[in-house]
Amino acid sequence: MEFPKRHSLISFLLFLSTFIVQHFAAVNSVGVNYGTLGNNLPPPAQVAQFLKEKTTIDRVKLFDVNPDILLAFAGTGIFVAVTVPNGEIPNLVNKKYARRWVGDNIKPFYPQTKINYVLVGNEVLHWGPQNLIDNLVGAMRSLHNALIRSGIEGVNVTTAHALSILESSDPPSLAKFRPGWDKGDLAPILQFLRQTKSPFMVNPYPYFGYSPEKADFALFKPNPGVTDKFTKKLYTNMFDQLIDSVYTSMKKLGYGDVDIAVGETGWASAGETFEPKCTIPNAASYNGGLVKKYNQGAGTPLLPGRKFETYIFALFNENLKPGSLAERNFGLFQPDFTPVYDVGIMRGTAGVPDQPVPTPTPSVPTPPSPVPKPPTQGNKKWCVPKAEATDAQLQSNIDYVCSQSGMDCGPIQANGACFNPNTVRAHASYAMNSWYQSKGRNNFDCDFSGTGAITSSDPSNGSCSFLS
Ligand SMILES: *[C@@H]1O[C@H](CO)[C@@H](O)[C@H](O)[C@H]1NC(C)=O
Ligand SMILES: *[C@@H]1O[C@H](CO)[C@@H](O)[C@H](O)[C@H]1NC(C)=O
Repeated sequence: MEFPKRHSLISFLLFLSTFIVQHFAAVNSVGVNYGTLGNNLPPPAQVAQFLKEKTTIDRVKLFDVNPDILLAFAGTGIFVAVTVPNGEIPNLVNKKYARRWVGDNIKPFYPQTKINYVLVGNEVLHWGPQNLIDNLVGAMRSLHNALIRSGIEGVNVTTAHALSILESSDPPSLAKFRPGWDKGDLAPILQFLRQTKSPFMVNPYPYFGYSPEKADFALFKPNPGVTDKFTKKLYTNMFDQLIDSVYTSMKKLGYGDVDIAVGETGWASAGETFEPKCTIPNAASYNGGLVKKYNQGAGTPLLPGRKFETYIFALFNENLKPGSLAERNFGLFQPDFTPVYDVGIMRGTAGVPDQPVPTPTPSVPTPPSPVPKPPTQGNKKWCVPKAEATDAQLQSNIDYVCSQSGMDCGPIQANGACFNPNTVRAHASYAMNSWYQSKGRNNFDCDFSGTGAITSSDPSNGSCSFLS
């Protein structure tokens, strides 16, 4: 069919704009977790406008389904991933309830707000209780069906996992999911994700695996790397090691074809005196290295060229987060939008994709606010396991403490100063004490369901020094 000249121009322009739209859709950026545990955070509308105009960030992830935030992002073109509260999981198995939930929480905002994910709970296997774990995949299915029946297609339903789902991650070739969770819980989830073409979402934190000896490896700095002797693959950073461990574990269970997405990863830029890894240069090096790696699309040794959708934790420093100072310093930005450091996500600055990682430029010249000094000086106290605590109880204390952001379990990992003696009891002792010290040394911070006891004798041993 012959088009008159004007028509062909119009169709060419249409083609061009479609091309541009598609092109833009394909060139996506790293995302951020928009946490809201602060009493000094800017209103959502300002946040949406700031992200759109001043940064290259094109996707945010929420830890809830906040209607004010969903409204604020309408029409911005920024993708928004929402998280269903863990407590809703058992209800959502019910088809009617799920449809009502979608009608109340998603439908009013979609598609003006580009909701790309509904995440069903957060780190549910890790936190439990069993009732939520048992209902997780049922809730995911039911929500997926409710979305489709409400005419909402193309929204991924998945759930983010803490890496405590892995039994081990070093070397990646020997990684596998924890027995008990593998076939019973993770396989049905992976089956659902395969059917619905959604990614398996994990929260890898090299931050927790940090030790001074492995600093360069954890922080994306030049280092000789570590070869996995079974695959002969060379790993030059811990992030790749963790992702390939997840991939290997999925493959061993028969789901190597399911995509992987990174729900959270990050680094604190300030911390207590016992958190020396939390500095602006370290946070800038980790998050900057991550952004650079993401933009290059290099993938991992086992998944070369694969781009994992990634959300940095977090957008803002959140002053109401409980825990040690590090917890309140994971943000890329201060609440007044000043970058804490630049990781190459600002528009109109040197920080454009494919540039080398910018050297950290702390924009707040004042040092972090003074670290509160522990009140006790002479009469120090430590938290250790009770004699009657079982290894299973102590292992769950380790898992709990070491999964909390702000807690440094590097010393009890291989090569760490407190790795030996390599026993559950010794490691639990270190972890439980770290928790007790960082939470403010209240008696209840050493309770651990009745498995902890306070002592006045220092459990430190040789080069392994316990926090006090
Ligand atoms: C859903 O997940 C798939 C697989 O990872 C991905 O290709 C797709 O872009 C995702 N959809 C949205 C809307 O983000
Ligand atoms: C101190 O460390 C050494 C070396 O690992 C170990 O053999 C010993 O049992 C430790 N002592 C205590 C009290 O844990």
